Amino acid sequence: SSITSEPISEIPSVNVEQPISKEVTILFGSQTGNAQGLAKKAGKKLEENGFKIEVSSMSDFKPNNLKKVKNLLIVVSTHGEGDPPDNALSFHEFVHGKRAPKLEDLRFSVLSLGDSSYEFFCQTGKEFDEKLEELGGVRLHPRVDCDLDYDEPAAEWLDGVLNGLSKANGGSSTPVSTGVESLTTESIYSRTNPFRAEVLENLNLNGRGSNKETRHLELSLEGSGLTFQPGDSLGVYPENDPALVDILLEELKWNPEETVTINKQGEVGSLKDALISQFEITVLTKPLLKQAAEISSNSELKDLVSAGNEEKVKEYLEGRDLLDLVRDFGPWENSPQEFISILRKMPARLYSISSSFAANPDEVHLTIGAVRYDAHGRERKGVCSILCAERLQPGDTLPVYIQHNENFKLPENPDTPIIMVGPGTGVAPFRSFMQEREEIGAEGKAWMFFGDQHFVTDFLYQTEWQKWVKDGVLTKMDVAFSRDTDQKVYVQHRLLENSKELFDWIQAGAAFYVCGDEKHMAHDVHNTLIEILEKEGRMTTGEAEAYLADMQKQKRYQRDVY
Ligand code: 2AM
Repeated sequence: SSITSEPISEIPSVNVEQPISKEVTILFGSQTGNAQGLAKKAGKKLEENGFKIEVSSMSDFKPNNLKKVKNLLIVVSTHGEGDPPDNALSFHEFVHGKRAPKLEDLRFSVLSLGDSSYEFFCQTGKEFDEKLEELGGVRLHPRVDCDLDYDEPAAEWLDGVLNGLSKANGGSSTPVSTGVESLTTESIYSRTNPFRAEVLENLNLNGRGSNKETRHLELSLEGSGLTFQPGDSLGVYPENDPALVDILLEELKWNPEETVTINKQGEVGSLKDALISQFEITVLTKPLLKQAAEISSNSELKDLVSAGNEEKVKEYLEGRDLLDLVRDFGPWENSPQEFISILRKMPARLYSISSSFAANPDEVHLTIGAVRYDAHGRERKGVCSILCAERLQPGDTLPVYIQHNENFKLPENPDTPIIMVGPGTGVAPFRSFMQEREEIGAEGKAWMFFGDQHFVTDFLYQTEWQKWVKDGVLTKMDVAFSRDTDQKVYVQHRLLENSKELFDWIQAGAAFYVCGDEKHMAHDVHNTLIEILEKEGRMTTGEAEAYLADMQKQKRYQRDVY
């Protein structure tokens, strides 16, 4: 079997009379892996339908090649305040910049992922969609914006894209149906078919007197066949607080035992169980408010959602939940079935895994900060974190799945030095990194920056870090306890204090990782990195930014931020 002389076999084609190119480029911009997974599945499906596919991360795609692309599919998510994912940044900037080419020969379609509880829902997808049209591209199928529960709209988008591609290529316009199931994964346990993992351990990592409560959870994956790499996340389907559901049911004067249909497949269950495990009741979104107004006769609610009230709607949604809505805009004369039909499906929560599979086979560990706060005169609790903090016992089970994250991976070469910045629960993936490097006997240097409020109560996994330093798995550790001194010290201050040595590590090829709070910490760390490059590398701000963008391209600057 020679690998040189065999001609590449013809691309199978349904219609032999089609002379036109069936080449399709699929570019994804993905932070947590959802968009990447969808792009790959779309690629597979199109390939099965005779198309020649190139699937690529936006960061790996050479922008100059854009002119040559005939059929372009974009699958992209949106983060924070309408921001593109890290691996979409440079391509996003390119198409919106002066160097963007005219794209008169381009046919394209955009699938955007987002969360309708955020103001800038699917913003990045919308921007690509508008810009590609402005540059001369023609849509082969309209953009589809997906909320958290994206499987069905994504499958419908792909059906539409297949039809659009067939038409655009001058072929028959017979609809090619992929079916809704087409986007479910090949392994047995997945986001749409989670594994019930048994809880082995559930501990509070913080000491008495701390302002924080950080849960350390150990779950069993035994019998699931699931594996993961350091940097991957675990998706967890939580249950709502039964006490909150009871109050909601009382308020609505509904019978908790009434039978309702819970999904399109026609599964039934009691109203109480449905509100506990099937639906989201702790977040209000704009679409939900609009639908509520439609099924309600309350004129105040109808006024609120009427045109021109965008600011008021935004203000109302902020920090309120379903119980607020029910109390503020009664009476509700709908049937329970009609009422639950407007609710979003309970979304999974993604947590960066804090253990290594190699070091702890058949287990997965999580590090979860308990979320409790007051808003609008009532105590609010994070659904998943408080389930873990207050109700989940060893022996209980949780529905979980593995979310692979290609954007947060240890260097392939175990000799490559790594720098890790992970204050608070941002520590999680770095515990996994260290366990893995210890397990495989990696020789590369490693430097950890950790921060939290107080040394005595909040040094998460303190003894483990100390042991790694002692054993040489970890070369250096710097800590910033923000509330032990009069002046706050944060991880970025420790970075700056070590600027010379950090710059040397980076110049020597180290990979730089940041995990944790996006808006403040990761942003400040990014700016500090620029400052360090300016100072130690004598770069201008522009040069430092380009240097970091280049590191990002080489996967030497990776972030897992939330
Ligand atoms: P603080 O709460 O005392 O302000 C983990 O939560 C740690 O991150 C805490 O010590 C917290 O400090 C700190 N932190 C808060 N804002 C930060 C920022 N902008 N940059 C870095 N660390 C921050």
